[in-house]
Amino acid sequence: MALSVEKLHPLIGARVTGIDFRKPVGAEARAELQRIWLDNLVLVFPNQPLTDEEHVQATHAFGEPEIFHQNIIKSRKVPEIFRVSNVDDDGNLMPPEHPTMQQLGSARRWHTDSSYRPNPAMGSLLHGIEVSRTGGVTCFTNMYAAYEALPPALRARVEGRKARHDFEMLSRIANARKPTDAERAAMPPVWQPMVRVHPGTGRKSLYISPIYNDGIEGMDDRDAMALIAELTEFAGQDRFVYKHVWETDDMLLWDNRCTMHVVTPHDPLERRVMHRTTIVGDGPVIAA
Ligand code: SIN
Repeated sequence: MALSVEKLHPLIGARVTGIDFRKPVGAEARAELQRIWLDNLVLVFPNQPLTDEEHVQATHAFGEPEIFHQNIIKSRKVPEIFRVSNVDDDGNLMPPEHPTMQQLGSARRWHTDSSYRPNPAMGSLLHGIEVSRTGGVTCFTNMYAAYEALPPALRARVEGRKARHDFEMLSRIANARKPTDAERAAMPPVWQPMVRVHPGTGRKSLYISPIYNDGIEGMDDRDAMALIAELTEFAGQDRFVYKHVWETDDMLLWDNRCTMHVVTPHDPLERRVMHRTTIVGDGPVIAA
């Protein structure tokens, strides 16, 4: 198999052709894909018309699929599939006020997946099944580059610090339904270093996830939230960002350990069906 790699942005993103995820991915190809992924952070694989079962199978080339801890959003038929979709399991368009849409609306703010877990997800693999023509552009920022470019005064405020990541924060910012007591007990808040070391590259990156962050150690809540907002604005500058305009059957793989992502709004009457698997983390976050 000959993989071909074309850079999409000087700092982040590459288009990879020469692979068909409907077929098993051998050891040699896995090793090559790992190398390309670590170098480019976000990979775009065009023309991958996968079933959900094939999508889950393809995920195993990178790690174990995570199972979402809530029943909403998770596919009824294939539990590893997280349905980033405004169409429900029965094919009905959900209105913007539907609880699932309220919760998914949080993806319109910068975040990195599952940062509220003790071992946050290493990556995610998103399949564009019905893509938007009115928006729904997914943007990715390079958090190594953001960290390296931080002005010294801002960098000094994050070095050696931890931020709190709480899944429940979603219900405060996105008007999403409050987690049940059982869901809250299953997912208590965690403190994560704000500067982390990537286990695969040894590089340092900024690590925040603004839809889950609700505190920073040693700071009152107002200062903490102001700092998270300042860091988010800094990291979201165009110079660090690749913006992906979807084609049907694109598969995107991103590294949650050194990127954040956000999706632009689209017409809520237009169907957008995207299925994601999330790849279980390779261990606790390593503090820089
Ligand atoms: C996500 O945040 O995982 C989904 C991004 C998207 O809807 O494009």
